[in-house]
Amino acid sequence: MKIISTALEMQQAALALRAQGKRIGFVPTMGNLHDGHLSLVRLAKQRADVVVVSIFVNPTQFGPNEDFAAYPRTFAADRALCEQEGVDFVFYPAVPEMYPDGASVSVTENALSRTLCGAARPGHFDGVCTVVAKLFNVVLPHVAVFGEKDGQQLRIIRRMVRDLRFPVEIVSGPTVRESDGLAKSSRNQYLTAEQRPQAVCLRRALDEAERLFAAGERDPQTLVAALRALIGKSPSAKIDYAEIVDDETLQPLAGPIARPAFVALAVWVGKPRLIDNTVLRP
Ligand code: PAF
Repeated sequence: MKIISTALEMQQAALALRAQGKRIGFVPTMGNLHDGHLSLVRLAKQRADVVVVSIFVNPTQFGPNEDFAAYPRTFAADRALCEQEGVDFVFYPAVPEMYPDGASVSVTENALSRTLCGAARPGHFDGVCTVVAKLFNVVLPHVAVFGEKDGQQLRIIRRMVRDLRFPVEIVSGPTVRESDGLAKSSRNQYLTAEQRPQAVCLRRALDEAERLFAAGERDPQTLVAALRALIGKSPSAKIDYAEIVDDETLQPLAGPIARPAFVALAVWVGKPRLIDNTVLRP
């Protein structure tokens, strides 16, 4: 496994692989890898000859009061996990490599990124789109794999790829969960022993919405009330948002669910803000 830290060297390696006819699979990450990331690596391996993982804690997707400085940086452990999974290249740049002095170009998605986490975290998806566009230009992947846990991010990346005509296939990987249903996330480690069992309320709320939907409930407001009631049973949980929106536009639904609907939750459980989602398909 090769570790590369400059954009030029990564581009040269990618161009050489392409010249040999190799298909490049890419998994962008911010490190602190867990089973969720590793499942994306396995998907990339199935779909490509060579797998590149990037590890870069991207400053532009953190708000001024968010956890950029405190975000866990665990390169030695990440590197060992990548090696175990048979990753071919780890792209591990420093901040100035991705944002050279005076960098003044960014990518903004203007529709899907206005709601949900985009409304709660202004500028977050500009940061994500900008860094992912840069990473695509550096890694030159044929296929890139993103997790379904970050459902809004996945939809925005697909839109960016479509609109900016990136020649990259986007593949999604299902959310990997702990045995009680909590979605795996680097931020779960901030949960205290008391908060940890309560964090499962996100999955339980989604289960309840799925159950009611399967029983014929189609009114988004009734379903949102059920989500809120279930999360409300956990004293440490504070809802940032609990919404059911159109799965394609991420806009609020005008009436009963008649097309696929995206159910999205962001909930503070003590210090960490956890997200989870599901899709209801009539
Ligand atoms: O999902 C993430 O970990 C990040 O948002 C990403 C896609 C690596 C961009 O920094």
